[in-house]
Amino acid sequence: MNKREIIAYFDARAPEWDARMVRSDSKIAFILDAAGVRPGVSVLDVACGTGVLFGDYLARDAARVTGVDISPEMARIAVSKLRDPRVEVLCGDVEELAFPRRYDCCVVYNAFPHFAHPARLLARLAACLAPGGRLTVAHGMSLAALHRHHAGAARGVSRPMPEPERLAALMPPCLAVDVAVSDAEKYVVSARLR
Ligand SMILES: C[S@@+](CC[C@H](N)C(=O)[O-])C[C@H]1O[C@@H](n2cnc3c(N)ncnc32)[C@H](O)[C@@H]1O
Repeated sequence: MNKREIIAYFDARAPEWDARMVRSDSKIAFILDAAGVRPGVSVLDVACGTGVLFGDYLARDAARVTGVDISPEMARIAVSKLRDPRVEVLCGDVEELAFPRRYDCCVVYNAFPHFAHPARLLARLAACLAPGGRLTVAHGMSLAALHRHHAGAARGVSRPMPEPERLAALMPPCLAVDVAVSDAEKYVVSARLR
């Protein structure tokens, strides 16, 4: 997996991204409940794409949302939709950016397979958490559907998504996993800073 190829892959798909999005409010509600998104929190949306969750964070009265994405086209579309001063978008590699603050909720939604070094990413994100903060890795589809997707068009820009137990085992010791769900419609692993 090479980052230039990841950028090219998502830049090419950005214009159609929102039109192809299949949304389920109930799945997103489950994921954001697990992620601890509630009034007053700050959120780091890792690999935010076009910002598909920004409205959901704001609907829950998040105090601050930072979205970060490595694809300039995805980030450009996310920026073009910004209407609220609580939201900012950074275009860059989440593995290298210096974040301006610590966050109550760090959410990696539909993006984890695109990181070549999962344990390294989790450790880096854990270091971005405020005291009592939560790190959540989630997908709005089953593990089987994810495997099919990543064996197809996205094969060159992703690695297999681990089972929840395996992902939990990759979390750094400072995090306590208290949600691990993998069912026919979603995948959610969420951990709290000890
Ligand atoms: C499948 S898309 C998901 C986007 C969004 N979270 C959603 O659900 O619509 C994966 C995203 O990960 C981003 N990405 C991949 N590697 C990244 C990295 N190292 N840093 C930041 N973003 C990255 C891609 O540019 C892409 O927008």
